[in-house]
Amino acid sequence: MPRVRVHQHVNPLAPYYRFTPKPLEIEKVFARSDLPLFLDIGCARGRFLLKMAEIEKDWNFLGVEIREPLVEEANRLAKEANLTNLRYEFCNATYSLDKFLEKLPAGILQTVTIQFPDPWFKNKHAKRRMVKDKLVETVAEYLKPAGKIFIQTDIDFLAEEMFAIFRENTNLRETEISENPFPVKTERETAVEEKGLPVFRRIFEKIK
Ligand SMILES: C[S@@+](CC[C@H](N)C(=O)[O-])C[C@H]1O[C@@H](n2cnc3c(N)ncnc32)[C@H](O)[C@@H]1O
Repeated sequence: MPRVRVHQHVNPLAPYYRFTPKPLEIEKVFARSDLPLFLDIGCARGRFLLKMAEIEKDWNFLGVEIREPLVEEANRLAKEANLTNLRYEFCNATYSLDKFLEKLPAGILQTVTIQFPDPWFKNKHAKRRMVKDKLVETVAEYLKPAGKIFIQTDIDFLAEEMFAIFRENTNLRETEISENPFPVKTERETAVEEKGLPVFRRIFEKIK
């Protein structure tokens, strides 16, 4: 089946995307809701999580993505692969990740990834970038003690901007890393690697 066609970018500030999602009911989406939870924010077509879910059967994988047709396609592929530890949801993470997670207990997230988010190069579009104070606060709240957030991008100014926002949260400890710690690369990471571009990476670990 051909890949679903979508706009390359959508404006997360447009009224259509400023919706309040239905809160996630974890028992309804995973066969075993007690497994450690891995959240990928801005998962696009979800192929990274699809492979991770095939490899790590003792984890649950949740992807959130603002382009709805990609979410539908990714859930279809997860179903075809009989993966009951994988789910994708339509969510504007910058605007409403807190509402989406509100039925979950604090400390449920074991790992969070933000990989190659859209840079929105022009200054007048900076407000559309994904990582903002509120998103960091939500992620830190739902992260387990010693849980980790992995962030990577090939855009230097965006790396500095995102790392600075995460650094402001004193519950998190920053570590610079040179390699992706997971056995799978995202589509964007593979493309960046093929071009030989540098990638800026950090882990932020919840310390309190
Ligand atoms: C450049 S792509 C990278 C996709 C994937 N993480 C990768 O590394 O291949 C960024 C993704 O984030 C999604 N995105 C952008 N803003 C978002 C938001 N506010 N909430 C959820 N997803 C968002 C975009 O639609 C896009 O799929």
